[in-house]
Amino acid sequence: MTARLATPLEPLIDAVESAQALDAPGKAIGKQVRATIKQPLKDALSGTWLGHALHPLLTDVVIGTFLSATLLDVAGGDEDGKAGARLISIGMGAYLPTALTGVNDWADTEPADAGVRRAGLVHAASNSAALALYAGSLAARTKGARGRARVLSSAGATALLLGGFLGGHLSFAKGVGPDQTVFDSGPGEWTDAGEGEIEPGRPTRRVADETPVMVLREDDRFYALHDRCSHRGCSLSEGEIDGDAVVCACHGSRFDKRDGSVLQGPATAPQPAFEARVQDGRLQLRRQT
Ligand code: FES
Repeated sequence: MTARLATPLEPLIDAVESAQALDAPGKAIGKQVRATIKQPLKDALSGTWLGHALHPLLTDVVIGTFLSATLLDVAGGDEDGKAGARLISIGMGAYLPTALTGVNDWADTEPADAGVRRAGLVHAASNSAALALYAGSLAARTKGARGRARVLSSAGATALLLGGFLGGHLSFAKGVGPDQTVFDSGPGEWTDAGEGEIEPGRPTRRVADETPVMVLREDDRFYALHDRCSHRGCSLSEGEIDGDAVVCACHGSRFDKRDGSVLQGPATAPQPAFEARVQDGRLQLRRQT
């Protein structure tokens, strides 16, 4: 058996994700963030109103402006340094909302994944270092110390790239942010989901063609949503029913039981919804169109 070939930055990721010393501060910060950020600020920072996580949109502003200032330093074309100073000022203005959206997303995930907790802390520390270095570069520009400004902005870019790499790792490798149902929309044709008896008023988990589905029966009417919460994947059948809302037990996202639309975040994506019927004593489900 041959050893798997490691990618160039895998040792760095392994070192960060195995740094147990980060757990105590990470847990304390996460707890404080969850206790502090409440509705409606929670939805605003999560991007529920946008239908998409807000953090990646804002990071484009910070990374774009900071790196553009460094590129002007390296490539030339900004002899008096004013364009670079303007870019850094814009990036610094966008930094706080960007950091708030990021820490909000991270705090919802860190309790369930130590790797996310640790990588998120290093991501934030790298970005904070980048902010400090670019602030120093801006101060040097205003004093006319162009050489010092260039050195500081180059160092800032290095820290920013490390932070950006870890941010990408959190999203694309650790799954912080994507719709958790995106690769499993459920069966499009009527599919058996077990016996037709469902206890009224209580969310029940069924499986239709490997897709977990939360089924709710009220009188003779059935409601059915994908059981995996689009936010971070918790089981909706372990949540509660509140009027027309299915409330996720993990972070309180509320989905309309009739069509899966988001009534309250932090979820940003709707739940796939299903039609349900009983045929010959068997429950059948198919995706709503
Ligand atoms: S997993 Fe976060 S609200 Fe459902």
